[in-house]
Amino acid sequence: MNDATTCVVYPGSFDPFTIGHLDILRRARALFPRLVVLVAADGKAQLLSAQRRVELIRMATADKDGVDVRGFDGLLVDAVAGLKAAAVVRGIRCAGDYEHEWGMAGVNALLDQDIEFVYLLARPELAAVSSTLVRDVLRHGGRLDRLVPAPLAAELRRDFPAE
Ligand code: PNS
Repeated sequence: MNDATTCVVYPGSFDPFTIGHLDILRRARALFPRLVVLVAADGKAQLLSAQRRVELIRMATADKDGVDVRGFDGLLVDAVAGLKAAAVVRGIRCAGDYEHEWGMAGVNALLDQDIEFVYLLARPELAAVSSTLVRDVLRHGGRLDRLVPAPLAAELRRDFPAE
């Protein structure tokens, strides 16, 4: 049974944070009293620095209680143990995501047999939204307002003015 201090972590590259990520965060937060977004310092990020990704997610979640946003470096299992988190939350949009998660969960379980994962399926209307495609739209000057949380559209456009 969860107590009032139980937290879960929601790790990712978030390059950038999308409305799909925000929806998973919202739904996970409805299940658990505290959620820590862990922004991977290295990993796949190609567009934004870790510091900027943290800043943008803080803006996108400023109205949410029980949500904390931090950068993290190193192994996920160590971050989870350090925070005494009950589980890792991940969103799954499609079969490709499932395969990726399957590999990560397997390796993480070999690193720490106590680690637990909670997977939330993306809502169908958001399942096509990926950070990769948002970066492409951003690069080509397209509208971002239906792809990223409201305050981030203007921020990203300021960072990367359309040519
Ligand atoms: O949003 P992403 O890129 O799918 O997130 C992947 C992430 C950051 C959760 C994953 O790469 C990760 O946990 N990196 C930390 C390093 C680590 O623990 N690697 C070994 C197990 S996957």
